[in-house]
Amino acid sequence: MDAMKETLSKIISRLGQGRVLVVGDLVIDEMIYGNTHRLSREAPVLILQHQRADIILGAAGNAAHNVSKLNAQRTAVVGVAGKDYYCSLLMDALQRDGIDACGLVQDDSRPTSTKTRISGIANHSVTQQIVRIDRESNAPISPEIETRLLETLSQLAPNFDALLLSDYGLGVLSPAIIDHCQALAQKHGLIVAVDSQQDLSAFQSATVLTPNQPEAERNVGFDLTTPEDVLRAGQILLDKTQGQSVLITRGESGMSLFERQPDSTGPKVTHIPVFNRSQVFDVTGAGDTVVGTLTLALTAGASLLEAAILGNLAASIVVTRFGAATTNPTELQASLDKLDDNLLKRIETSTALEV
Ligand SMILES: Nc1ncnc2c1ncn2[C@@H]1O[C@H](COP(=O)(O)OP(=O)(O)OP(=O)(O)O)[C@@H](O)[C@H]1O
Ligand SMILES: [Mg+2]
Repeated sequence: MDAMKETLSKIISRLGQGRVLVVGDLVIDEMIYGNTHRLSREAPVLILQHQRADIILGAAGNAAHNVSKLNAQRTAVVGVAGKDYYCSLLMDALQRDGIDACGLVQDDSRPTSTKTRISGIANHSVTQQIVRIDRESNAPISPEIETRLLETLSQLAPNFDALLLSDYGLGVLSPAIIDHCQALAQKHGLIVAVDSQQDLSAFQSATVLTPNQPEAERNVGFDLTTPEDVLRAGQILLDKTQGQSVLITRGESGMSLFERQPDSTGPKVTHIPVFNRSQVFDVTGAGDTVVGTLTLALTAGASLLEAAILGNLAASIVVTRFGAATTNPTELQASLDKLDDNLLKRIETSTALEV
């Protein structure tokens, strides 16, 4: 077997041991399905006969779910929920998906962030989404709730190997929480992975930041059109964040990894193409899969490049499934076995020009 494959295989076998604390914006995706029944007499609207409702963890919850399916449930979350009906659904979903909810702080001034999608089912036809109802607040968290989150983080952090900061812009990752995560990471020697839709300069000195291409573009202020743009963006993001590395995920163009070098030369750049082009059905949540897998791989001793390759491999599996999906070590190993050895060799030796 190829040396790289052997290394990746060893890392996969160790994924179950890593402990990851996910800090961020927890969201519930509620999917309600009904059979299209008849038109109402009260108003010109369709009446659906309720069939079922699915509750799926979204945003930081999806990142946590992706980790928990890989690390035999050694995953916990720190975040906020409201004091409402959806909070109990959130707790149930966390428990169902093997995620420890001990870091969940309830705030009666905000709703549990929920996106409800109502879809009609018709026989012999596609299921059609009719409307989406969002309940969310992106107001800053109150000082009182922030203090409780800070205390919770102090208590939990020593029991973990990595912090995954999953910021969907809904308020949990305030400057004080980010600073505290950094301080705790330094104190306890934790890996810090950042997946944020916000200004990345708020997150200093992380192990890795994983913006997607639009997020990277917003942060640097120009579009990533040419390979040179991508290189320049990676360099700027490393400078802005003082991070050890930046991984720009670029949808169907794969991902580009920028690693800070100890000397003053520019970063080491590696391009990783997508591993699966043919069976892509739904890319929703693939970014959460990448950051979850990558973080766990780092706790298992992977290099940044090995961790990024495993993140890419995990993404290649979940994009074949509808909705925010997850994978597990058995599937990862099976996909690794099928991966072309030459492709891995090309990645290892790829240069900036191939971005
Ligand atoms: N169209 C695609 N074909 C193949 N692989 C894809 C495609 N889109 C995404 N991927 C895989 O998923 C990874 C992450 O995707 P992307 O850059 O879109 O993340 P994202 O926008 O943060 O996703 P999300 O926020 O929905 O979780 C990519 O690096 C790639 O490995
Ligand atoms: Mg994302």
